[in-house]
Amino acid sequence: MNRFKNLRTIALLCVVLIAVLTVSTAITQIKKGKTRPMTTEQWMEGVMAPHSAALRKGLQAEPADDKAWEKLAMHAALLNEASYVLMADDRCPDEEWANAASEILRQGSADALKAIEARDLEAAKIASASIGAACKACHSVHRKKE
Ligand code: HEC
Repeated sequence: MNRFKNLRTIALLCVVLIAVLTVSTAITQIKKGKTRPMTTEQWMEGVMAPHSAALRKGLQAEPADDKAWEKLAMHAALLNEASYVLMADDRCPDEEWANAASEILRQGSADALKAIEARDLEAAKIASASIGAACKACHSVHRKKE
């Protein structure tokens, strides 16, 4: 009788332990990948914010020459690359993150690049807005309010 009780207690403890470990791994994943030193915060501040802002402002100002368009292509290409970085090194904790990074951000930035190459200002603005939707989709779930 007692032996069964002990087994049940051990089983219960295992379940609790697994739950705690899963939650804490998910939290560290969000803030940082598994093996590389860069934090999500650094990537956001150094890449996501400046390049998405530069793309949006550059489109609003209407690029005047090829050089200006090429600058915009660079911003869009870096945001596209970001859709891979955010999925790498076990940083991605769940479906919402994966959808925001590898679907919305990847597609929006690829569409932006295509529109920029075609010098299609309106299409590029629409794509830039959908990049903004990717930020929102991930932040609404994973960016904790302070
Ligand atoms: C797949 C998820 C994801 C996507 C997509 C994403 N972010 Fe973030 N972002 C985060 C997380 C998580 C944090 C909170 C990081 C922390 O505090 O550790 C964050 C924080 C930030 C911060 C605050 C950084 C700081 O210094 O505290 C900025 C700014 C930011 N994101 C900008 C952007 C912009 C702009 C985009 C879209 C172009 C974007 N992010 C897309 C997950 C994402």
